[in-house]
Amino acid sequence: MKQFIEQLEHENKLPPETYKALLEGYTSELAEFVFSRAQATREKYYGRTIYLRGLIEFTNHCQNDCYYCGIRKSNRDLTRYRLTPETILACCHKGYQLGFRTFVLQGGEDGYFQDEKLIPLIEAIKTAYPDCALTLSIGEKSYSSYLAYYKAGADRYLLRHETANTLHYSKLHPKSLTLSKRLQCLNDLKDIGYQVGMGFMVGSPYQSIDCLVEDLLLIERFKPEMVGIGPFIPHHATPFAKEVAGSIELTFYLIGLIRLMHPRVLLPATTALGTLDPNGREKGILAGANVLMPNLSPVDVRKNYLLYDNKICTGEEAAECQQCLKNRMENIGYQIVVSRGDYTTSPSVS
Ligand code: 5AD
Ligand code: FES
Repeated sequence: MKQFIEQLEHENKLPPETYKALLEGYTSELAEFVFSRAQATREKYYGRTIYLRGLIEFTNHCQNDCYYCGIRKSNRDLTRYRLTPETILACCHKGYQLGFRTFVLQGGEDGYFQDEKLIPLIEAIKTAYPDCALTLSIGEKSYSSYLAYYKAGADRYLLRHETANTLHYSKLHPKSLTLSKRLQCLNDLKDIGYQVGMGFMVGSPYQSIDCLVEDLLLIERFKPEMVGIGPFIPHHATPFAKEVAGSIELTFYLIGLIRLMHPRVLLPATTALGTLDPNGREKGILAGANVLMPNLSPVDVRKNYLLYDNKICTGEEAAECQQCLKNRMENIGYQIVVSRGDYTTSPSVS
């Protein structure tokens, strides 16, 4: 098995059956080997630096009804909110002072935020913070909308593909959402020039090892600048309330494999990891991740942006999370840096 990992490290790709063998052959010893190679790879390009992305959850209204997600349209058990442009800019201001140089505007697919509202918002953020990157995570839109946001100054876009298997996709989403549409959106974003993030949940209901192989092959082919993966965690007010959570160990293993496949990829240790294990984010970094995405949303709205149960950091102010993460990273020998943290095209020398 170790020779397959070395092959991935040197060739950055593997045949499907080899990915399958690596997933079926998972042992904690093999995982340790993946982590050590993934750390070496990450350090070659990014040193021991960790990039911060300030997440602003600006609307929890959503027209979709994904079976796994706590802010799905059918959930009546939460208070819906939208942040005003002034509040969003105040979140950026606070984040900027704390050293954030990337803001991520994330929200449900909210019909209220039409282009005529979003475009001036993007322009206002980029005018106020020209040295910051702006990432959007607002779901499926038309090519012309994506283009307009890009022209307004958006730099990056996160849109997880959720699963690369069509049948599996249909078991996670109502008919109104399709994998082909999702992939079309990802292609459009790449074509326009965004730095693009894709990704999936580990251990979502009905996921098989073959699905994960397809996820890895899709990421290998698409070559996104960012990949977000985290364990599936059930939310009590969704059709998947009684399903079991994904394996955190398998998530770490996949983080390591994705690092070896795409050495320079920007890979977050997600909040979902920190939710299933108090040291999940540290372990994610040690598996090969290099990004953290703390929450900059106002504390009073955070309990209404629960995609899954028991989400951490819903009561902490941004500054508290910042300090907490700084300490956590220093404890494992890593440093948070003040930088946009763009996808690099040349190895770092630090
Ligand atoms: N558990 C884990 N991750 C989830 N997401 C949504 N619901 C859940 C859940 N129950 C993830 C999806 C989505 C991202 C914003 O959050 O992958 O793309
Ligand atoms: Fe929020 Fe630790 S990151 S309290």
